[in-house]
Amino acid sequence: MNAKLIDGKLEAAKLRNELSLQVADFKREQGYVPTLVVVLVGDDPASQVYVRNKVKQTQEVGMNSLEHRLPASISQAELVGLVRKLNADKNVHGILVQLPLPKGLDSDAVIREISPDKDVDGLTELNAGRLSTGAFGADHGLVACTPLGSLKLIHSVKPDISGLEAVVIGRSNLFGKPMAQLLLQQNCTVTVAHSRTSNLANVCRRADILIAAVGRAELVKADWVKSGAIVIDVGINRVMIGEKAKLVGDVDFKGVSEVAGALSPVPGGVGPMTIAFLLRNTLEAARLGLNQ
Ligand code: GUN
Repeated sequence: MNAKLIDGKLEAAKLRNELSLQVADFKREQGYVPTLVVVLVGDDPASQVYVRNKVKQTQEVGMNSLEHRLPASISQAELVGLVRKLNADKNVHGILVQLPLPKGLDSDAVIREISPDKDVDGLTELNAGRLSTGAFGADHGLVACTPLGSLKLIHSVKPDISGLEAVVIGRSNLFGKPMAQLLLQQNCTVTVAHSRTSNLANVCRRADILIAAVGRAELVKADWVKSGAIVIDVGINRVMIGEKAKLVGDVDFKGVSEVAGALSPVPGGVGPMTIAFLLRNTLEAARLGLNQ
């Protein structure tokens, strides 16, 4: 292996330590505890694991975390009703509706209901718009957690990425689009590739920073990667190796680690960073609530 291993567990632990101190300051100054509510609809096993980790880590840094578990049979109106209730509750500072929602529920319509100041996923139109116009940061809204975590990992190996070619594979609202906006703000030249991109391998080969978020196990091969590139693997795919289930990313780790300059692993790369930034966004949302 030639590539430097980008240690997401370590970076996330550093961030959580800083957050614990900031949460303690917030509690001392304001006299109450920032509170995140996570809404989980249905019984998708992967979502259950993610939500359990989110709740546990929120509590570990000293904030409150409440979980609403709802059956997949819930109606759109009932789910929207819950979001409206949480919007109106001044003791709730962050709202996260775990995605994907079960079939039959319209996630865009649910997200549109979340108050932008409590939107810890940065998914509402106002927060996404603020990010694309460059008006984000303190007092300007909340940004999606996984792109923020990925940028932090990139900065951990290269603080100044101005002028570099970045390729993001994937164009979701939750990741690809906000990631592209963050990289643009860092003065990268950004390409967003997706399932209809022709000659994806050629597009990827020009990247100084290559970020894969497609949900296809080990799609990105060594010969797609420029020598010395920073490669961030956002994929989490469950594959069977014989009888055993194993988690792999969207990047062929073994092959790509011979070519890349730095590479984030799965697990232990982007995953822990997503949760760390969710905690940071929850504290940020509690601060935004102070202005109302
Ligand atoms: N499902 C997978 N990742 C995420 C995330 O960051 N936020 C939400 N709400 N759902 C997800």
